[in-house]
Amino acid sequence: MNMLIHAHSGLRYVVLALLIAAIFVAYSKWKSNDHGDSKLYLFAMIAAHTQLLIGLILFSMSPKVDFSMMSDAMYRFFSVEHTTMMLIALVLITMGRVRSKKLEGAPKHRTVLYFYTLGLILIIVGIPWPFRNLGAGWF
Ligand code: HEM
Repeated sequence: MNMLIHAHSGLRYVVLALLIAAIFVAYSKWKSNDHGDSKLYLFAMIAAHTQLLIGLILFSMSPKVDFSMMSDAMYRFFSVEHTTMMLIALVLITMGRVRSKKLEGAPKHRTVLYFYTLGLILIIVGIPWPFRNLGAGWF
């Protein structure tokens, strides 16, 4: 359980870095009307799905997930807010990638740009950053 929390915590930076890189690539390929795909789109999605998998295991085991403690901000955050935001972000990223696969040229990269950016925003907002006082650290 402890190892999983550390993996989940550290992997956030991999997800964030890959998403930001994919968004930059999508923007430049969109603007240059590039027809190729980018492996970064796939890698960013895989990293996000790995978080989802670990997250689902944590959700089933974590003492911070307790629906009888909803008046406490920390329990509410992990039971509802974190989980909901990350699930929506995962759906957006997956939709962006799946839709982009069916498109060519500028619309392909624009689709990745829009969906991944929305996903990234939700993930940034949904992370229990230490300054939010939810009992989670930087790593
Ligand atoms: C890209 C997606 C995600 C990111 C970046 C992310 C990030 C994080 C971070 C940074 C923590 C704090 C770890 C610590 O205490 O140091 C955390 C905790 C947690 N996450 Fe996620 N998460 C994601 C997706 C999910 C999903 C989809 C679920 C559930 C289905 C989930 C469930 C949890 C739970 C239950 C905890 C609390 C674990 C505990 O301390 O007992 N996460 N997450």
